[in-house]
Amino acid sequence: NLTGLDLRAEIDRLRKERNAVILAHYYQKPEIQDLADFVGDSLDLSRKAQATDADVIAFCGVRFMAETAKILSPHKTVILPDMDAGCSLEDSCPPDQFAAFRAQHPGAIALTYINCSAAVKALSDVIVTSSSAETILAKIPPEQKIIFGPDRNLGGYLARKTGRDLILWPGVCIVHEAFSETELLKLRAQHPNAPIVAHPECPAVILDHADYVGSTRGILEYAMAMPGDTLIVATEPHIIHQMEKALPGKTFIGAPGADGNCNCNICPYMALNTIEKLYVALRDLTPRIEMDEGLRVRAKKSLDAMLEMAS
Ligand code: 13P
Ligand code: SF4
Repeated sequence: NLTGLDLRAEIDRLRKERNAVILAHYYQKPEIQDLADFVGDSLDLSRKAQATDADVIAFCGVRFMAETAKILSPHKTVILPDMDAGCSLEDSCPPDQFAAFRAQHPGAIALTYINCSAAVKALSDVIVTSSSAETILAKIPPEQKIIFGPDRNLGGYLARKTGRDLILWPGVCIVHEAFSETELLKLRAQHPNAPIVAHPECPAVILDHADYVGSTRGILEYAMAMPGDTLIVATEPHIIHQMEKALPGKTFIGAPGADGNCNCNICPYMALNTIEKLYVALRDLTPRIEMDEGLRVRAKKSLDAMLEMAS
């Protein structure tokens, strides 16, 4: 029974006692973002996880992110407030089917979005995030055949932007798929001077209307530099918390789904983490990410390739 506990104070006490670092993704609830030691996009969070000298990483994000932290920092205890915090992209790409897909394309390398299981990372050559994908793709010779999974929207965006011919796995993010072009156009008609920013997990019909496409960090950097006073944001709406904190005089509007509001674009997996579950996880050091060492070493190769090629 947690009633009566000052959870923020308890989390602070446990963070010191356990020598823990709290890492949070921009899609976490505002109260979690506000008590984290570091808030970032997938690439920054991977780098932080690798560089930290904490004994415990409390990962407030989804499971593949916490797994990435464990792959890169095997001697640290990595806890995730809710082990059911999965990802629709990971679910769309079972490792056995991915292995069969690879086998259908001999000679192709597998460039794979970080939103996948450790087993799919182990079957891949290079991992990418949305902030590193273009830099990494530019380092791969143009004649090299490439399969790209699991996000067909990010893959399609990269193919259009770079002119590369990518062989796409048909996965999607259910959150970014839920934006409605019709509702977005209605919103833009009400705010004709407001730029639209979008995450590349959105389908092409949404990206075609965007003034800027980029990762969560890229979207935030765009917001910080924008000259106008209103911005339409086509990604998970919890990122708006950072914009409102930094620029309290400006207006940020989450792009709508078919029902005309942005609530259907809240990531149901990210939303499973709560401050109560974070407290319990820090107290009990569970749920904890455990991984077979052979799998970890195989998955680390493609992540190391990303970290090397992204810089
Ligand atoms: P980035 O933070 O790398 O932009 O990724 C967004 C996302 O959907 C994470 O699941
Ligand atoms: Fe996965 Fe989409 Fe949620 Fe990101 S927003 S964790 S891609 S389901």
